[in-house]
Amino acid sequence: MSKAVVAVVGSAMMDLTAYAPVLPQPGETLVGDLFSTGFGGKGANQAVIAAHCGAEVHFIGKLGRDLFGDSIATNFSTLGINSYYLERTDTPTGVAHIWVDGAGENRIVIIPGANHEIESSKAVAAIESIEDLAVVIAQCEIRQGVSLATFRAAKARGSITILNPAPYQELTQEFLELCDWIIPNETEFRELHGQLPTSDEILREFRPGKNSVVTLGSLGAALINADGSIIRTSAPIVNAVDTTGAGDAFVGTFAYALASGLSSDKALALGIKVASLSVTKKGAQSSYPTQAEISTLS
Ligand code: RIB
Repeated sequence: MSKAVVAVVGSAMMDLTAYAPVLPQPGETLVGDLFSTGFGGKGANQAVIAAHCGAEVHFIGKLGRDLFGDSIATNFSTLGINSYYLERTDTPTGVAHIWVDGAGENRIVIIPGANHEIESSKAVAAIESIEDLAVVIAQCEIRQGVSLATFRAAKARGSITILNPAPYQELTQEFLELCDWIIPNETEFRELHGQLPTSDEILREFRPGKNSVVTLGSLGAALINADGSIIRTSAPIVNAVDTTGAGDAFVGTFAYALASGLSSDKALALGIKVASLSVTKKGAQSSYPTQAEISTLS
């Protein structure tokens, strides 16, 4: 397998999570089971799982000059994630307020903070200078203009671009065309396409001539190849305690696998296995399997 070099331009957040059997209605107060503080942010989650898989990961982002920012920077360095392009600002580090119910389903409010101050010029300079850069990933928790400039630079040098359109926002045509892969979940697919991904016909109508993967929660995922062929992979049955960050686990693993030279169907299968393991533990990055665990999956 070739060296897998992956760059992530995206968000890093501190996740503040409350767990309760049932979530409150408007105006209601309930007693929960647990509160935890953990590393999150869709970009950081994808970077971390790609690193667990064995990729050489470069994170392009921005943190506040505060305690959350310090501990996220330390976490990246402990995991060997290249943070040369991770900047700091006086704006607070992004945070995510998360509620997880008894079925492991979440509701999330993010406050992007420093994530919204990433500069296009810095991201482009990073993309242009990373050696052997195979895959570049972006999501929608930073300003779209930054991701667009990043993908333009990535395509100019021949890297593969992967967009995880989460949380959904309207995307410009130019940006969509720069995406080699788009990986939405069912809700994001409906926003992008207009219908839920309930049949192969609907899947085929999504970006004809381009590659995509739709993640389908406990049902696994469907890969839509540029030639219109569809490959479905089911997810193993697991006891889901917290689905936070599972989509990110899939995206980061898929990116690692493509960067390693694996075929897209093998990348799909590995991504589903890693994402399924992640829902069996609480938190986002805290739920991710280790490199040793991942090496037993492939
Ligand atoms: O995708 C899960 C992530 O979304 C959480 O870690 C939270 O930070 C939000 O960004």
